[in-house]
Formats: sequence, structure tokens, C-alpha cells
Amino acid sequence: MKQFSPSCERNKGPILAVLREIITTPGRVLEIGSGSGQHAVHFARGLPHVTWLPTDTAENLPSIAAWRAEAHLPNLHEPQALDLFADAWPVEQAQALVCINTIHIISWASVEKLFDGAGRVLLPGGILYVYGPYRYAERPLEPSNEEFDRWLKARDPLSGVRLFEDVNRLAEQKGFVLAGDRAMPANNRSLWWKKN
Ligand SMILES: C[S@@+](CC[C@H](N)C(=O)[O-])C[C@H]1O[C@@H](n2cnc3c(N)ncnc32)[C@H](O)[C@@H]1O
Repeated sequence: MKQFSPSCERNKGPILAVLREIITTPGRVLEIGSGSGQHAVHFARGLPHVTWLPTDTAENLPSIAAWRAEAHLPNLHEPQALDLFADAWPVEQAQALVCINTIHIISWASVEKLFDGAGRVLLPGGILYVYGPYRYAERPLEPSNEEFDRWLKARDPLSGVRLFEDVNRLAEQKGFVLAGDRAMPANNRSLWWKKN
């Protein structure tokens, strides 16, 4: 049941360091696309002042539940099914929303659903955090991300490394203001916005 992602093991430490800096007050953190569940355990343990709410599409929930059962963390909620296209999300209010390595895997229509939902669910001042590879209009994409982008598009033409400017525009349309854009290991970025 328990899935294991080597990339989660590599990036969970650097991501937690950013989350500790930006999610400082107690509240609920909604994670979209929790995947294996490794991140949920690591972040709930590292952020004891928040309640971590992992979600993903139904087929991924058993692995998240298995990691959770082993961890025995009082602030890690059981995983809930959340498809970005669902009319209603299982979480109606949160102080932060975290979505890691997902925006480049899903279609742009799904990315729009993510930001729609974040606009609905997050409280004023809430943080929307995303992590992954991004391209920027004013500089060439790193060769490793260029290759990753080709691989993504061969697998699903609707996916691909997103242009930061497109994502930021979408965030602004939904009422968010860019609060941070930081280089992370392996040519990834941490991006976060604050809800007005
Ligand atoms: C590349 S994985 C990343 C998983 C995890 N965040 C990580 O960093 O390892 C992308 C995740 O997005 C989820 N996903 C894809 N389409 C989705 C949708 N329509 N609604 C919700 N989650 C979705 C997948 O199930 C998967 O867990």
C-alpha cells in the first residue's frame, strides 16, 4: 500500500524549511496532490502548530493513509479525496494551500481549477504555495527542465513546465499577490502568494 517517492525524500527538507518560514500561525493547511503521503507526514511533524489535511484523487489515498497510520501524528488528518474538477471540495476553509510537483503534470484547465479553489477556500491573508520547475520569460529554461518538459509533453501534450508569468497572472486574477519566488535544489522553485 505504501508508495515511496525518492524525489520526496530529496526535496522534503528544503521545502519544509520554506514552509516553516511562511506558515507561522496555527490553522489548517490543505495539501492538493499529496501523492505517496511522505510529504504530509514530514510537514505535519515539522509544523506541529498546524493541522495538515492531505488530499488526492481516490486511488492515491491508501498510500497516504498507510504513511499516516505509521506516523501517529495528532495534527495529520486522514487523507480525503479531492479531484480538482469536483464541484465541491472536502475542505471549505484553510489558512494555507500547498501543491507540490503537480502544476506541470496536470492540464492548464486543471491549474485554473486549482487557483479557483484556492481563491474560494483560503482565508484573507492565506498562503498559496507551489513547488516545482518553472520557465521564465526573460531567461532560457535550464537544460534539465527542457528535457523534463519534452518528456512530460510526450506523455501528455496538455502537461508541461509552466511559464511563471502565466501562473502569476492567474494567481492575480484570483485575488493573490506574489509574496515569494525562491530558487530550490535541482532547478525547482518555491512560489507563494498571499490572498488579499
Ligand atoms: C507528480 S505527482 C506529485 C505528488 C506529490 N505532491 C509529490 O511531490 O510527490 C502529481 C499528483 O497530482 C495528483 N493529481 C493529478 N490530477 C489531479 C486532479 N485532477 N485532482 C487532484 N489531484 C490530481 C496526482 O494524483 C498526483 O498525486
